[in-house]
Amino acid sequence: MNPRSIYLDNAATSFPKPAAVPSAMTDFMTKVGANIGRGSYREAYDAGAMVFEVRDRLCRFFGGEDPACVVFTMNVTMSLNMLIKGLLKPGDHVLVSSMEHNAVMRPLVQLAEAGVSFTRIPCREDGSMPVTEGAPELEAYLKPNTRAVIMTHASNVCGTVLPAGDVGLFCKKKGLVFILDTAQTAGVLPVNMKEMNIDALAFTGHKSLLGPQGIGGFIIRRELAGLLTPLIAGGTGSISHTEEMPGFMPDRFEAGPLNLPGIAGLGAGLRFVEEKGLAAISDHERALTGLFLDGLAPLEAAGRLRIVGKMTVEGRTGVVSILPLTTDPAIAAARLDEEFGIRTRVGLHCAPSAHKTLRTFPEGSIRFSFGIFNTPEDVGAALDALRTIL
Ligand SMILES: Cc1ncc(COP(=O)(O)O)c(C=O)c1O
Repeated sequence: MNPRSIYLDNAATSFPKPAAVPSAMTDFMTKVGANIGRGSYREAYDAGAMVFEVRDRLCRFFGGEDPACVVFTMNVTMSLNMLIKGLLKPGDHVLVSSMEHNAVMRPLVQLAEAGVSFTRIPCREDGSMPVTEGAPELEAYLKPNTRAVIMTHASNVCGTVLPAGDVGLFCKKKGLVFILDTAQTAGVLPVNMKEMNIDALAFTGHKSLLGPQGIGGFIIRRELAGLLTPLIAGGTGSISHTEEMPGFMPDRFEAGPLNLPGIAGLGAGLRFVEEKGLAAISDHERALTGLFLDGLAPLEAAGRLRIVGKMTVEGRTGVVSILPLTTDPAIAAARLDEEFGIRTRVGLHCAPSAHKTLRTFPEGSIRFSFGIFNTPEDVGAALDALRTIL
């Protein structure tokens, strides 16, 4: 076993975190500790102020209309379940891309039994969506009962960015609800609800927003929030004389105590992103991705691997998948880990439909995903290792 560790699995969860993240969590747990909305004493007010501050900054960061419409959940999976199952009713139809993660697909497949149907918009073999400005091509997939488009902003398999702005414009024109899964872009690429006509934006805290696991959320337009059935019901600390969920935001969707240490950590992660700036973060990840793609090209030309998805840094995040052509992907990933200390993720990445689109189903791929703390030396080590193994 190689004692060194080069972490190239940031698309799964970012690591390491900025030092301010664990210290904000420890501070909260050792100095504040109280729940929000329940107690009438100083620590409860401090906790409430901390949560409001993070809600407010998330709202501004994503161009939301009202901090009260920022709802905290455990992760983007839970956010998508709450949005999808809260919105869709028997007889509804939705559009998704063929690049979706199972966090979108599995709730939809569950709902199929209740009479909700979906159509996949086929993407190209590099993961891109074949639409032009304003996405008029989507018209062909509409049915009289189409209610929404639910889509990832970027593929977690190959990093290809989907045209969220164009799809948002199309949805606005057609009166469809637009739900965007920002798991792979929040904290790397600009995402703005107003500019991109996003009705509900689902985010996760533990990837490029650099927070801990167990915190995520969604931001929703106020008008839409009133139309959704809350999936989780329980105590909110508000209007406790009634056994019905409150109608007001964010309590309508936030039953049970929140993950307050997680929110404190997410606040610190977001602060790091705000201070560094999205442009600097994406430039850094782009540079590493470019280096990696350049190094992979001769291996591809020699028939030792296939680069999955786009060949250039344009229109992609810092996620690169390869299909080894000289050995099994699982064996290659195990050797990267054991002999070189290079941590990647191999398999289908919870996105079977994306792998079918990319022609890597059922074997899957090895995914390398770069984060803000990776260096050109990490990229060089990964390339050296691949030259040896493949
Ligand atoms: C595109 C996409 N959507 C959803 C998810 C689920 O994220 P989480 O595990 O934070 O719920 C992931 C995680 O890899 C993802 O990449």
